[in-house]
Amino acid sequence: MPSALKTIRTQFQQALTDAFGSDLAGCDPMVVAASNPKFGDYQSNVAMPLSKRLKQQPRAIAQQILDHLKISELCEPPEIAGPGFINLSLKQSYLEAQLNAIKNDPRLGVETEKHPQRIVIDFSSPNIAKEMHVGHLRSTIIGDCIARILEFRGHDVLRLNHVGDWGTQFGMLIAYLREAYPEALTTQDALDLGDLVALYRKAKKRFDEDEAFKETSRNEVVKLQAGETDSRRAWELLCNQSRREFQVIYDLLDIKLQERGESFYNPLLPDILEGLEQAGLLEESDGAKCVFLEGFTNKEGEPLPLIVQKSDGGYNYATTDLAALRYRIQQDNANRIIYVTDAGQSSHFAQFFQVARRAGWLPEEVEVVHVPFGLVLGEDGKKLKTRSGDTVRLRDLLDEAIARAYADLQARLAETNRQESEEFKQNVAQVIGLSAVKYADLSQNRTSNYIFSYGKMLELKGNTAPYMLYAYARVRSIGRKGDIDFEQVGEDANILLGEESERVLAKHLLQLSDILQEVERDLMPNRLCQYLFELSQKFNQFYDQCPVLQAEEPYRTSRLALSDITARTLKLGLSLLGIAVVERM
Ligand code: ARG
Repeated sequence: MPSALKTIRTQFQQALTDAFGSDLAGCDPMVVAASNPKFGDYQSNVAMPLSKRLKQQPRAIAQQILDHLKISELCEPPEIAGPGFINLSLKQSYLEAQLNAIKNDPRLGVETEKHPQRIVIDFSSPNIAKEMHVGHLRSTIIGDCIARILEFRGHDVLRLNHVGDWGTQFGMLIAYLREAYPEALTTQDALDLGDLVALYRKAKKRFDEDEAFKETSRNEVVKLQAGETDSRRAWELLCNQSRREFQVIYDLLDIKLQERGESFYNPLLPDILEGLEQAGLLEESDGAKCVFLEGFTNKEGEPLPLIVQKSDGGYNYATTDLAALRYRIQQDNANRIIYVTDAGQSSHFAQFFQVARRAGWLPEEVEVVHVPFGLVLGEDGKKLKTRSGDTVRLRDLLDEAIARAYADLQARLAETNRQESEEFKQNVAQVIGLSAVKYADLSQNRTSNYIFSYGKMLELKGNTAPYMLYAYARVRSIGRKGDIDFEQVGEDANILLGEESERVLAKHLLQLSDILQEVERDLMPNRLCQYLFELSQKFNQFYDQCPVLQAEEPYRTSRLALSDITARTLKLGLSLLGIAVVERM
């Protein structure tokens, strides 16, 4: 079912060509949601820019558009305002018909894409043996949300975890393993290496302090690359241990993704060099092989190189990304590739995208996008740290959010003398704590830095997860109070929108489809958060102003159905953010 906005746009396009000829086919009718409700629901300012082209007054153009516009089923008779703005208001009968059409639809009117794309989302992507930090948490949360929305719209999504499982740091780690855990390299049993981050720190310390150890580390890299059995085994041991640690976080956050780390592309790297050579792009600079970039210069104005093979023969992050890009296009058949990382990597992406394009590996019709995000800051505005100054471990951070949600819940229960089972409390605290962390991240414009505050994200008021979950539980409580079978309500209801607050709520409910398509295009999850936040507010206004259970029929059933659509929209919207709801809290 196309949304009102879509239908109006289509009809405007038609009216433009009917009125002014096929010259205007493809002209953007500039239909947008009205900037102010007093101008109606939608507006089009297209008459103004057309004035020059058509050599007519904008008001006259607007009138001719209206003469040809066929939207009388959707809208009240349109009005021309000021110099030539066209204002449109949706008809109550149209709103009622649309809601009646979606009331039993599990997709709530959101269309499935008719031409699904094959989309790769590269997200989370922590580094083996280094810690998974808050930046990776942002990538995980944002990437998962984007994946959920694209999947819901019907696209064929491949979620890839491009873990950093290769590189010179392994030389140092394996050298350290040989010293500290000699049995690790010989036994066949799984070995618990304990805290890998601590191991990494100790290895790094040895590396920085001892020349001989440094030399051994370098040799280990060579042995690993040559595929020596015990080096391989040590490497696998490290990867497995990291994997287990990452998985704990993914399970807690309900994240599904497929690991395809940097090492996967190793065998393809020589061919990348070969391809760049053949394309005539490869040059040598200080013994390293590189491609000189267009539009990237150093302070002296000279073109910057993208290094693809270091002077010691090693490949790097960019080489691997070139191989991965080519593989995703040629083997995975991707039409769109989305990379979710911190904004600090923006030039890395711009650079290897450019090289891939010049090498002929990135056809016009494939869209590659870097989805950058800002830093996570502590409440002091500085990089997030623990009290003792260490980096925050993700596990601890999530546990703390859950513990605080639990304490808040205890306090709320005590205030009203409510008794709940331990199981109930733990479940609710877990849902609230985790969704608070996710929602706090997603509700920000991702490009800005965001301040991590347990206090703020757990507040029951404002644009927070607890507020949204509470709104959902509130609607569900109406059902419990009235002992309502919502499925039956859905069957019986004929939705009627008598009151202004009902119409406001109805219009908002019908915008879900447009919002999701906007997020699909712009990859800004905060738009969906804002939509859901406004939905909760509009529902609360409706509920304050309109009796539901106490209303006379046919309003009672109609309002129950409206409440149910609201609850289901909240639940669906939150699930697309990766957030589960609770029926009571
Ligand atoms: N491992 C990288 C990091 O921790 C992120 C990888 C992002 N994906 C990519 N294809 N470069 O910063």
